[in-house]
Amino acid sequence: MTNFAKNILCIGAGYVGGPTMAMIAHKCPQYKVTVVDINHEKIAQWNSDRLPVYEPGLDEIVRAARGRNLFFETDVERCVREASIIFVAVNTPTKAYGAGAGMAADLQYWEKTARQIREAADSPKIVIEKCTIPVKTALAMEKILSSAYGSVRFDVISNPEFLAEGTAMRDLEFPDRVLVGSRETGQGLKARREVVDIYANWVPRERIIESSIWSSELSKLVANAFLAQRISSINAVSALCEKTDADVREVARAIGLDSRLGSRFLNASVGFGGSCFKKDILNLVYLCRSYGLSEVADYWEGVVKINEYQKERFVLTMLSAMFNTLAGKRIALFGFAFKADTGDTRDTPALCIAKSLVEERAEVVVTDPKALENARADLAGVERVAYEIDPYKAARGCDAIAVMTEWKLYAELDYERIYASMAKPAFIFDGRNILDHERLFEIGFNVFSIGKTPMAHA
Ligand code: UDX
Repeated sequence: MTNFAKNILCIGAGYVGGPTMAMIAHKCPQYKVTVVDINHEKIAQWNSDRLPVYEPGLDEIVRAARGRNLFFETDVERCVREASIIFVAVNTPTKAYGAGAGMAADLQYWEKTARQIREAADSPKIVIEKCTIPVKTALAMEKILSSAYGSVRFDVISNPEFLAEGTAMRDLEFPDRVLVGSRETGQGLKARREVVDIYANWVPRERIIESSIWSSELSKLVANAFLAQRISSINAVSALCEKTDADVREVARAIGLDSRLGSRFLNASVGFGGSCFKKDILNLVYLCRSYGLSEVADYWEGVVKINEYQKERFVLTMLSAMFNTLAGKRIALFGFAFKADTGDTRDTPALCIAKSLVEERAEVVVTDPKALENARADLAGVERVAYEIDPYKAARGCDAIAVMTEWKLYAELDYERIYASMAKPAFIFDGRNILDHERLFEIGFNVFSIGKTPMAHA
């Protein structure tokens, strides 16, 4: 153990902690990196051939580093004692109860972790916030840590994570930027340098941005709010396109070529999902409201409202296209993950759509190459839902297909074969604009996409 230059610990073996630590271990063989979690089952999975997180490139890195300088363990106390740098990546879901329910972050796991660190530590530690947390959490963390009876020194650093699911390993290896925020005191700056040094092993120095701890915390929320705002903006425009014979993809292309705007995150869709966008915006809204900034809060809340509207609009389009009744009709949902290349279904638009369709008394068949297990858990107790891994079988006998996730495989299916197996008239609702709509119309489908005039046979 003494051979390692640094002893780094991460508390929380989830989507953020696992991949981030695997990358640090991969890039810095001189450091010992440990991931600890009280969930024994999860740690056992990290130590097995079947990791609990699916990310392209993750398996290889974990396999090479595990047992060499990357370790997965369950004894939090011992691990805290041994480490000098501790990342905290426990989950902070939206609070489901009490004040701020549905808006504020639930900090119970996070606070428990802070207390655990305080109890176990017997030497100075740098404690790094990695999870998305409300602004000023670092202050609370400092208070909890410094209320220890002993004289152990803790420095709290904010180092928000910007990785997106499905591209986590690439985002970690070639980040647009890494943010490291600290107190601007002598001791705070020293701790900041230690964390900067870790990333400097592979990230170009000019991409490592240093700031105050508050700017760093706020930047994370604002980055996600801006990204989500672009999607809500183009989705709002998609509703107008459908009324005016414009095509939202053409509009997106035209505006995206303006270098001030850029072309990414302008794909109109059935709505954004994922564990971060809604949660972070609601956090931002809550923060603004708590400072009495109601206009600012309303502005950002609009981003979430448009997203809800987009999902409702999608179901209403299906309903009106299919002669105002879905009762007894069979509808295949192509995809359940909140985006392609992940099995994650947190806050996926597909869940809301599936539930609305069932409320309309439709029979829903869910298919997804990676997310069927999660779909089953999310829809547990909901009647009239079936699960089928094979999209051809899922569509058989259906009245409609609704594309929920932009999995490449859905663009490559044999739609003539699918059409032949479906009830007629057959409908396709492309919630991701990934299919060849003209071709589908030629085959015989009634085609409804996002932000484009529908193509329906008379
Ligand atoms: C996001 C941020 O991108 C990342 O920086 C942050 O750390 C965590 O939150 P993630 O939730 O993994 O990452 O997914 P992202 O790729 O950002 O997509 C979010 C949602 O928006 C998905 O449902 C996606 O399908 C949707 N989306 C994205 C669109 O509908 N249109 C687009 O143009 C882009």
